[in-house]
Amino acid sequence: MRTDCFRGKDFLTLRDWDKEQVETLLEIAFDLKRRFALGEPHDHLLRAKTLFMIFYNQSLRTRNSFEAGMTQLGGHAHYLDPSKIYTPALEGKEVAYSTERVSDVARVLSRMGHAIAIRCYGDPVDWVYGGAHEMMREFARWSDIPVINMECDKYHPCQALADIMTVKEKFGAFEGIKFVMSWAYSPSVHKPRAVPQSAIIAATLMGCDTVLAHPPEMELDPEIIAECEANARMNNATFTITHDFESAFKDAHVVYPKAWAPTAIFKPPVGEDNAQKAQEIFDKYKSWKMTAEIMETADKEAIYVHCLPADRGWEVTNEVMDRTDVKHGWSSAIYDEAENRLHAQKAIMALVMGGK
Ligand code: CP
Repeated sequence: MRTDCFRGKDFLTLRDWDKEQVETLLEIAFDLKRRFALGEPHDHLLRAKTLFMIFYNQSLRTRNSFEAGMTQLGGHAHYLDPSKIYTPALEGKEVAYSTERVSDVARVLSRMGHAIAIRCYGDPVDWVYGGAHEMMREFARWSDIPVINMECDKYHPCQALADIMTVKEKFGAFEGIKFVMSWAYSPSVHKPRAVPQSAIIAATLMGCDTVLAHPPEMELDPEIIAECEANARMNNATFTITHDFESAFKDAHVVYPKAWAPTAIFKPPVGEDNAQKAQEIFDKYKSWKMTAEIMETADKEAIYVHCLPADRGWEVTNEVMDRTDVKHGWSSAIYDEAENRLHAQKAIMALVMGGK
């Protein structure tokens, strides 16, 4: 277990971390989960430390798991609404007495607390693909304390860590596990790519046989696809892309269907800034919905997972979502996965904000 490399580091994407480091994060997360279950105090780990959380977008799981996690570790998570501070903005995007340059915000908060966590995607950066991640990198450039990505337009590494923690918990290993990340239909086209991109990075990094399924128009970032191919080669595992929804899940252990935006939604040069076209593309694929019949074609102990919130009735049926706590056969692991956000993020915070 390598523990020497975490203190003071940013947590922006799993692409910045290697397999051994992610295994360490998982070991710590499982240990903290055990302590939480036993009621064993661990509030000395980040006693009197402060995490500043800047949320440009809504959240249930991320906000509450970070807040509860900091309380359990003995510190405090401070919620910042960007519209109630001077909205942090990059140079060139500033509005007098309404915004504050990211470099100033980062340096001020660095004098007062121990980490800065940020969620930003979509409207706050006008759907410029990569704009939110660039802002996080700018925070990290100026901050003397770790910056944690709570979801940007490219990555959701905290979700991905909880996802693979859930895989490890259910199957005990990653080798030989067929992990299927698939697009699924939703009436809303305004969905970032962060979750699927981080999920396939994590699954390939840990050595799962990973399948990405999506309609042709719903391709993901080519740079991330290349990274997944390299990860799979490193692990002697497979990474494949298919445009067939139902056959993708045959014998799958992990079934992860969720909507994400087509390229058309992003501003040029990446996309076309065309929400109507995005909607027309989406509406061609209403049949991409997870059902109990498709779950029956997966491995007999398969788990259905989703970062949540899921669009019930569109992405997935109630029957699949609600098949939790069954003794035999496939099941829905969505609440275990959501709980694992808490333990995974406590491990991240304990390691980057604490330590010797
Ligand atoms: N999965 C996830 O990040 O949930 P929230 O949007 O509720 O934080």
